[in-house]
Amino acid sequence: MEKKLNSCVTEIVGAYWGDEGKGRVAAFESTNAHLVLRTTGGNNAGHTVYYNGEKVPLHLIPGGIINKGTIAIICNGVVLNPDVLYEEINLLSKYVEITPDNLIVSNCAHIIMPYHIELDAIYEGRRGKNKIGTTKRGIGPCYSDKANRIGIRMQDVFRSEDNLKQLLKIALDFHENSLNEENIHYTVDELYSYCMKIKENLGKYIKNANMYISKALENRKKIVIEGAQADRLDLEVGDYPNCTSSYCNASGTISAAGIGPKYVDKVVAVMKGYCSRVGNGPFPTELLDSDGDVIREMGHEYGTTTGRPRRCGWLDLVILNKSRGYTDLCLNHLDTIGLIGEKLGYIKVCTSYSYNGEDINFYPEDIEVTGNVPTPNYKVFEGGWTIPKDCKTFDDLPANAKEYINFIEEITNIPVSYIGIGPHNEDTIVR
Ligand code: IMO
Ligand code: MG
Repeated sequence: MEKKLNSCVTEIVGAYWGDEGKGRVAAFESTNAHLVLRTTGGNNAGHTVYYNGEKVPLHLIPGGIINKGTIAIICNGVVLNPDVLYEEINLLSKYVEITPDNLIVSNCAHIIMPYHIELDAIYEGRRGKNKIGTTKRGIGPCYSDKANRIGIRMQDVFRSEDNLKQLLKIALDFHENSLNEENIHYTVDELYSYCMKIKENLGKYIKNANMYISKALENRKKIVIEGAQADRLDLEVGDYPNCTSSYCNASGTISAAGIGPKYVDKVVAVMKGYCSRVGNGPFPTELLDSDGDVIREMGHEYGTTTGRPRRCGWLDLVILNKSRGYTDLCLNHLDTIGLIGEKLGYIKVCTSYSYNGEDINFYPEDIEVTGNVPTPNYKVFEGGWTIPKDCKTFDDLPANAKEYINFIEEITNIPVSYIGIGPHNEDTIVR
């Protein structure tokens, strides 16, 4: 019988619509981790890390790979663009030696094939004015092939030629009409060559990832999951259909690595001092006026993945859904929201909504049907703050910044355990 031991998994998840700065907590938490995992999504994610003071944008590999002795795993739930991974390995090689000893790619991860990227654009086009505003990285079409059981997985590159070509033919037949309509043509031979290139470039990293994860769990070694996307982008609980195609909420993030709930020690929900969203869909606290522009400019809210200007608005505490079981909050951009407050003379935080004539403090799930976006009710803080240069602890923060954090804790009943006060990893207060 297994002894009762401590749980050892820390998962770091986005609490809003992505781009909350998950990479920062992940980098911080992974310094002493045995494994760092990426479990959902693909290169729709953009996580910025800093190595030797240099800004490094990553899309697939968890940033914790930089630590000596830490193994990075790209898990089953990820949809993987092999070209992007190969590029990222080369980019990272400037900072750390990447070998099959510190990078593992799950044999069960699905491959984003070239046609998935074409199909993403084709499907968006067909939606007319109901576009999702996807990252056009082939994420949705790859996950739908997975659900349809016609996907190609990393381990398929090791099949015999005949066998793999059969799989490719089934997938291609399935999509042929849509592709041909746009005058896009692939042959099985072309796709087979593409898979052989994957085998050549990445074959040595492809392994049974769950075996490594299970062993680490058995020995209660520290595992950090760098979540991608976020709660409101989750396929199950997010703003369907304006969401991504993976289960990237707190529960889905562990499931995509085959990890059971009993191993989870901490669930860190990452948020900013304000909200942002890329792509379409409801955003109750969105500011379409010049206040929104101020947030965008001061927060440099332009996409890491697509360069798109992000939609911006005030912090919305209703979205921090109590049922997700977050154990800790990470509040990023505390410096930025303070400066925004100084510039505008106020900072607002949404604590409830007026919706269909009622005051509610939960996120309504029928916005898509009613077409009514809830009206936020705000607590208003006067002015803002500037974080002092030598600020290292919570006590060093300006009084009104502390008041703002205390307010968030009071409303959510979750401790704000990490506070981002500047762009670099070391600009983090840990309580
Ligand atoms: P990180 O990990 C922000 C959004 C897209 C779009 C919707 C569907 O950096 O926080 P998709 O290409 O996934 O089919 O697009 O989801 N989206 C993200 N927005 N950050 C992300 O990841 C995102 N991943 C997907 O903008 O609205
Ligand atoms: Mg992003």
